[in-house]
This record gives sequence, C-alpha cells and structure tokens, in this order.
Amino acid sequence: MNRLFKSLMVLQVAAGLSGWVVEARAADPAKPDVNRGQAIAAQVCASCHGADGNSAGGAYPKLAGQHPEYLVKQLKDFKTQPGAKQPARNNAIMAGMAAALSDQDMINVAAYFATQVPKPGYAHNKNTVPLGQKIYRGGIAD
Ligand code: HEC
Repeated sequence: MNRLFKSLMVLQVAAGLSGWVVEARAADPAKPDVNRGQAIAAQVCASCHGADGNSAGGAYPKLAGQHPEYLVKQLKDFKTQPGAKQPARNNAIMAGMAAALSDQDMINVAAYFATQVPKPGYAHNKNTVPLGQKIYRGGIAD
C-alpha cells in the first residue's frame, strides 16, 4: 500500500511538472512582431545598417537576409547578461544599442532584417576571399 501511494505521488509530481513545462513554453516570447521590428529598425538601426539592413559603409555589417537566430545571438552577446562582468561580444557602439532592446525586441528586429533582401557586395581585399570561402563552408566553431 505504501509503495502504491509512493508511485502515485511520483506520477502526480511528474504530471504536475510536465504541466508546468507546457505553461512555461506558452509564456515564452512566441511569435516575432515584424512590424514592431521594422519600426525599431527605422528609428534606431537605419542610420548605420540601412533601413532595409543594407548598410552603405563597410564598417557596418549588412543585416539584410541574415539568419534571425544569428542576429538575436549577436544582439544578446553585445548586451552584458545578468551575472556577467562584460558582454560576450565587446563593441562600444552596439553595447549601447543592445542594452536598450528587450529580448522580445531583439527577436522582433531580427525577424524584420531577416525578411529583407541583401544587396550583393564585394571584397575590398582579394586576399581575404579564400578565407571568406573557408569560413562560409566550415564556419568558425568558437
Ligand atoms: C551608430 C551606428 C550603429 C547603430 C545605430 C546600430 N548599429 Fe549595429 N553595428 C554597428 C557596428 C559598428 C557593428 C560592428 C560591431 C563589431 O565590429 O563587432 C554593428 C554590428 C551589429 C550586429 C552584428 C552583425 C554581424 O554580422 O555579426 C548586429 C546584429 C547589429 N549590429 C544590430 C543592430 C540593430 C538591431 C540596431 C538597431 C537597434 C543597430 N545594430 C544599430 C553600428 C551600429
């Protein structure tokens, strides 16, 4: 009897926990709001990255057509996360930009730039082309 009671308790706890997990998922930032992302892009990011994510100057990376997950990760890396002493990706300009964005707005603005079409670019230095190809094919693990 005691054993049966115990296994019933375990089952109940497990059911309770899985219910909690489902609820926690439902509360996650679900769908990106592309319109809000576009508004942020126009007001904040456009001066450097271009309104459509095709920046004019080489100092500012193009964001158009980039994978949204990549953009979100970079934005999070620019922001000092709770408990960390410094951001994972250190850049004085982008630190200020990312600090002003909530996690949901990072998702929103990334979703907007991901929908934009990148304009073709070219390498200023021919010698970096093989390195670019290597990174394109193999990535940079770290
Ligand atoms: C004043 C200019 C400026 C503004 C405004 C600005 N950025 Fe940036 N951004 C930069 C620079 C410079 C870099 C390159 C940083 C580096 O070399 O690490 C960069 C890099 C990035 C990257 C990394 C791209 C990559 O290929 O790794 C993302 C993502 C990004 N910015 C998003 C944004 C978003 C979103 C906004 C608007 C909320 C924004 N930026 C506003 C200057 C700017």
